[in-house]
Amino acid sequence: MSDHNGNGANGPEIDEELARIVAAGPGPEGAPDLSTEYLGLPLNTPIVASSSPLTGDLPSLRALETAGIGAVVLPSLFEEQVEHESSEIDRMLDYSADANPEATFGYVPRLDEYNTGAVRYLRLLRDAKDQLSVPVIASINGVTPGGWTRYAKMLADSGADAIELNVYRVAAHVDEGGRQVEAETLALVEKVASSVDVPVAVKLGASWSAFANFATQVVDAGAKGLVLFNRFYQPDIDLETLSVGPRLVLSTSESLRVPLRWIAILYDRVDTSLAATSGVHTSADVVKALLAGADVTMMTSALLKQGPEYVSEVTAGVLRWLTEREYASVSQLKGSVSQAKVGDPAAFERANYLETLTSYASTFLR
Ligand SMILES: Cc1cc2nc3c(=O)[nH]c(=O)nc-3n(C[C@H](O)[C@H](O)[C@H](O)COP(=O)(O)O)c2cc1C
Repeated sequence: MSDHNGNGANGPEIDEELARIVAAGPGPEGAPDLSTEYLGLPLNTPIVASSSPLTGDLPSLRALETAGIGAVVLPSLFEEQVEHESSEIDRMLDYSADANPEATFGYVPRLDEYNTGAVRYLRLLRDAKDQLSVPVIASINGVTPGGWTRYAKMLADSGADAIELNVYRVAAHVDEGGRQVEAETLALVEKVASSVDVPVAVKLGASWSAFANFATQVVDAGAKGLVLFNRFYQPDIDLETLSVGPRLVLSTSESLRVPLRWIAILYDRVDTSLAATSGVHTSADVVKALLAGADVTMMTSALLKQGPEYVSEVTAGVLRWLTEREYASVSQLKGSVSQAKVGDPAAFERANYLETLTSYASTFLR
C-alpha cells in the first residue's frame, strides 16, 4: 500500500517524528488538530467513507473505524429495492389472506423477519449505530418526493445521524427540460428535509447548467450539506454481443478536479457543509479538497482498491503535510485556496481556458 502523495520527505525519520507528534495529541506542541464539523456533527477527522459495498458490511465498517475514519455513509437504499419490497409484501399479505393452510402453520415468514431491502437496511443501520462511535449517515436514492419522506423518517427514527439524499438522475426524455428537472429535485429535497429532524445532505451529479445558482437553491430548499459530485456510470457497447451494459470503472485522482473547482467556488458563498467526493485517493487529494473549502473528503474507489486500513495511511499523510508546514489544524487551512481567497479568482472559472489550452506541449509540435 502506498499513499503516493508526492509530498516530499517520507522517510523513517519523519515517520518517527510524526508518531511522536501524534502521541502528544492535538494542541500547540502536539499533532495538528484534524477535527472538523460536517452537517453540524463533530468529526475527529475530515476523512469519510462514502456509500459503497464496504460501508454495507459490518466487519468493514468496524475496520474503517479502527483505521480512523471520521464518519461513514451507508450504501443507498434504492427506490427499486423499496418497490420490490412493497410488491413482495403485498404478495405475502394476499397469500395470508387466502387462508392457505400452510399459512396457519407458519409457512409464510413474519413480516418483520422478511429480509427485504428496507428491513435489511434498517438492520444494518441499527447494528452500525450500536457498534460504531463515529457518525453513521444513511443514504436514500430518490427520484420522486412521494414515498421518500416515509423512508427518510424511518432511517432518522432508527438512529441515523444524518440522511444523504443520493440524487442520481439521467434526464433522457426529449420533453423533459432543465427547469423541470431542477424544480423536481428541489421539491424532493424540500420534502425530505422538512420531514426529518436530522440534517439532510444532498449528493448531486456534476451536470447542471448553472451549478452555483442551483446549489444555492438546493441549500435554500433545506440541504445542510452538498456532496459534490456523484460519479455517474456510463454505458458501454460490447462489440462481441452488440449489447449495451454498465461497466463500472473506479475513479483516479484526476476525477477530483471537478469537485475541487465547484467546492472552491461555493466555499463561503453558500451556508452549508461541503463534502468532496470523486477522486479522493491520497493525502494530497484530501489536502487539496480542504484547501478548496471542503469540510470533509469522501473516499470509495481508493478504499475498495486498498482496503479499510488504508485510511490510517492517508490520515498519516495529511498529518505529515500539516506538520511540515506548521499548520495547527484542519480549520486553519480550510478554504484558504477557495475562489474567494485566491489572488486570481478567475483560475476557477472560464478565464484560464485559453491559458490551459496553450499550456499543453506535445512532443509532436515543432
Ligand atoms: C461499487 C460502488 C457502489 C456505490 N454505491 C453507492 C451508493 O449506494 N450510493 C451512493 O450515493 N453512491 C454510491 N457509490 C458512489 C461513491 O459513494 C462515490 O461517490 C463515488 O465512487 C466517487 O468517489 P470515489 O472517486 O472515491 O470512488 C458507489 C460507488 C461504487 C464504486
